[in-house]
Amino acid sequence: MSFPAGFLWGSATAAAQVEGAAHEDGKEDSIWDVFARVPDAIAHGDTPEVASDHYHRMPEDVALMKELGLGAYRFSTSWARIKPGDRQVNRKGLDFYSRLVDELLEAGIMPWLTLYHWDLPQALQERGGWSNRDTAYRFQEFAIAVHDVLGDRVSHWTTFNEPLCSSLIAYASGEHAPGLRDPRAALAAVHHQHLAHGLTVEALRARGAGKLGITLNLTNAIPDLPGDPLDIEAARRVDALFNRMYLEPILLSRYPDDLLMDVSEFGLGELIQAGDLEVIGAPIDFLGVNYYHDDNVSGHPLRAGARLNLEPTTRVKSSPFVGSEYVTFPSRDLPRTAMDWEVNPDGLRALLVRLGHEYPNLPPLYVTENGGAYGGDVVGEDGQVHDPERAAYILHHIRAVEEAVAEGADVRGYFLWSLLDNFEWAWGFQKRFGIVHVDYETQLRTVKDSGLAYARFIRNGSSS
Ligand code: FCB
Repeated sequence: MSFPAGFLWGSATAAAQVEGAAHEDGKEDSIWDVFARVPDAIAHGDTPEVASDHYHRMPEDVALMKELGLGAYRFSTSWARIKPGDRQVNRKGLDFYSRLVDELLEAGIMPWLTLYHWDLPQALQERGGWSNRDTAYRFQEFAIAVHDVLGDRVSHWTTFNEPLCSSLIAYASGEHAPGLRDPRAALAAVHHQHLAHGLTVEALRARGAGKLGITLNLTNAIPDLPGDPLDIEAARRVDALFNRMYLEPILLSRYPDDLLMDVSEFGLGELIQAGDLEVIGAPIDFLGVNYYHDDNVSGHPLRAGARLNLEPTTRVKSSPFVGSEYVTFPSRDLPRTAMDWEVNPDGLRALLVRLGHEYPNLPPLYVTENGGAYGGDVVGEDGQVHDPERAAYILHHIRAVEEAVAEGADVRGYFLWSLLDNFEWAWGFQKRFGIVHVDYETQLRTVKDSGLAYARFIRNGSSS
């Protein structure tokens, strides 16, 4: 395959998913520690308390990354570790990231830092969390504290990971911490995270930070029947809510008009203060794209459900923001992962190409997450983990990125989700995305066949 010179090959994790040490060296509760104590919030009652124990095994994990030949490692910083309770900076907490960055640089691996991957200090949640505008200013202070210590060694700074999830899924559908079902609070969380992003871009830019950006999870919202007006309308609304509610403020300093109308009863417009959109649209240097699957959308839930044999209770999503009942569902004809997400590499190609056409001022793109959960990851008698489906998933998606580049998309890197098996949020430890298997009893790491395949690809196949 052929990729532009300097194309970055990496892998990604997030603090709350891998670190563990949830109450060590001064770290206090994040919203995920608290959410994990709510009965039935997380499968099997799993918690982020120990997770993949990366906090204690960091040097070993960096050595593994080096063995795999990774060029970059995307990780996130835990606000509740660095400023527990959002009070003063906890030196021990920041030291962990400082040691991680040194270890990476020593191994020749570029540190790619994400400031926020969903783990708000619980103390701030008690003051309203992201529904409170003040949290945006608290975030800016946190970001400055991290930059003060790591700015000399970290060149790439991502403000947020997937704000869609830490707003809508966290505050409206209640499936993620803090587990609320309040549409107004959810839209307030959207706007205040945008504001926090813009304030932080301004502050870190003024401090001479290298490259600044944000990671969004984007989708192609495909109408189930291309000519059906209800399906087309539902897909438009999903596109507005999942994609354009994030892309347009950040890239164009505006919310889409159709979105503002769709959600008008929930007060988004009233939250926007003079000057906010200019701050939010501060120029960025890269856009991170997380891609797992497209969303096939129908405005006829029963018809689509019957045709596809969907179980109505699990698949029909009734969202206050989409107006009517609608469904998003995996395509009928494609294979699926253990998350029941369709495997659709061509969706990634199409998305990367489309973004360049739709946003003329689009900065360079990086695929900051892509990967698959599969059942049956066990260490066999031969001491290995044979996961051919994941290996194929990875190579097919890399091929799709190559095709997108050939079609003119300005993509500069690919980060595989994930380096390690980890705490998959509400799914707990039962969904494994790692290219490295983690035995949660012993914390033993075993590189899966997919990890070996990715390493081989990086070594041999990434340049033509
Ligand atoms: C993304 C999250 C990441 C991981 C993958 C599977 O939405 O950013 O933390 O959970 O999904």
